[in-house]
Amino acid sequence: MARAHDSRKPWRVLVTVLAVLVPVAAVLAYVGWYRFFREEPQPDWVTATPEMRFKYGSIGAEWDAGIPYWIFYVIPRVFPDKFPGPGGYASLGVAWEQGQELPVGFTKKTIGFPRVANTCAVCHTASYRSKPDEVPTFVEAGPAHTLNVAAFFRLLVDVAKDPRFDADVLMREIELVTDLDWIDRLAYRFAIIPITRKRLLEREAQFAWLYRADFPDWGRGRDDAMNLTKYFMIEAPMDDTFGPTDMPSVWNLQKYQPERGMFLNLAGDSHDAYSVVIDSALGLLGAAPHDMNRFLAEVKWMHDYLASKPAPKYPFAVDTAKVEAGKAVFDTQCARCHASERTGTRISAAEIGTDRNRLESWNRQAAIDANKVVREMGIERKGLVEETLDGYVVPFLDGIWLRAPYLHNGSVPTLHDLLEPAARRPAEFWRGYDVYDQERVGFVFDSDEAKRIGTRHDVTAKGGGNQGHEYGVMLPEAEKGALIEYLKTL
Ligand code: HEC
Ligand code: HEC
Repeated sequence: MARAHDSRKPWRVLVTVLAVLVPVAAVLAYVGWYRFFREEPQPDWVTATPEMRFKYGSIGAEWDAGIPYWIFYVIPRVFPDKFPGPGGYASLGVAWEQGQELPVGFTKKTIGFPRVANTCAVCHTASYRSKPDEVPTFVEAGPAHTLNVAAFFRLLVDVAKDPRFDADVLMREIELVTDLDWIDRLAYRFAIIPITRKRLLEREAQFAWLYRADFPDWGRGRDDAMNLTKYFMIEAPMDDTFGPTDMPSVWNLQKYQPERGMFLNLAGDSHDAYSVVIDSALGLLGAAPHDMNRFLAEVKWMHDYLASKPAPKYPFAVDTAKVEAGKAVFDTQCARCHASERTGTRISAAEIGTDRNRLESWNRQAAIDANKVVREMGIERKGLVEETLDGYVVPFLDGIWLRAPYLHNGSVPTLHDLLEPAARRPAEFWRGYDVYDQERVGFVFDSDEAKRIGTRHDVTAKGGGNQGHEYGVMLPEAEKGALIEYLKTL
């Protein structure tokens, strides 16, 4: 009896232990899942209109590229010295709508805990004011010409490297602004803060070219997109190229007709809009999509929205008689490229003569490698052009009034200046100020306020050259004036 009893005992112990442990483990697993991975939909207002969805809707970047909300919140309080100026995130030139908790292009979504990530709108929303004492008007799909994206990238690396990025310091600040429960407190202290720090530090090597003393700053409104793709998507070793460009407008993408030899991206690097949307979204995610079907649904929504989003009309008065005269000038001087079968196609760098640095920042092998990375994720798209490219796409001029500064590298502040020979275009100016100049057509670029808020552009610095595109520069002043009036209406 005793023996039989003994041999049953281990089983009984095991059953008892399991009876206790399994529910405990299940509870822990549930709490772990709930506190770290449960996904909550964004509030309804975010998706109430296509414009709101474009500006604040998550595309899924919170999974791998998200920053925990409370860390994001206290960064300006703990590290004011790491921003380019006073005012926290506003000093980065983000578009910030009145009454909104986060700037345009910043998404808030709970995946276990609230996280902040970015969407296309951060670089693709324009802002302007007609005078300094006015609230800005924001235009979705326009170029974010005020955004200092390099400063934002550097900020996140710099704070992570700083000894103040530490659980004690951050928790003290977080507890001043919110009441976390004990689980969240533990989670932040022992997991979320150290993991965030580690992940931000991991990006330092890939951002190395942003710290090079021999390269100028990108400045407000510029982004070295092809180098970003090289260093982040295909993890190529750093080279000496440097090609920051203006943020482009991305409205009315349906104008691109690949079957007519048109390409997207400034050098015609990509076959079609769908491919660019996919690649841009992958750049924001920073990893393979968490849920492929949802990712592709977001991409489709974005593509459809941008395909049919019209360019904004010039919001100020125009002189219709001058517009008509200007159309005639345009037809003789400009239409052969900007309103012809050449529009949207690539023309050679030798013919156009603008700065070459952007061209050199990308190459055939990079295109092959990037296409491979995307293919291996199981995503089908026509993708990047696997050729050596040596020219720039002739841009459509829709909404050109809001696309200042001009040329692919943003080297010419206004349309007035673009119609001057390169030697007479401003050699230095300040970019990223949003008060509009209806005379020169572009943004005010050398007032005291523009100098205080904007970043200096030096046309002799690498990637900043304002040469080339000397069309219409010899026209009589009256014809130039009429032409500019016409350009306002495109
Ligand atoms: C960090 C800034 C940034 C973000 C974020 C960003 N873009 Fe862009 N985008 C750029 C820049 C800069 C270019 C120009 C690249 C080049 O050709 O050198 C560009 C180019 C494009 C183009 C090509 C435009 C044309 O006419 O050739 C499209 C379309 C586009 N982006 C869509 C998107 C979409 C959709 C998203 C979000 C999924 C997105 N972008 C996110 C900066 C950004
Ligand atoms: C031979 C073809 C050609 C002719 C002619 C031409 N352009 Fe262009 N234009 C281009 C190309 C190519 C670019 C892009 C160059 C770059 O960014 O490096 C461009 C860029 C521009 C831009 C800047 C677009 C932007 O988003 O920054 C404007 C504005 C412009 N052209 C206006 C004109 C006007 C006005 C005329 C007539 C006086 C004209 N162009 C004549 C080919 C041409």
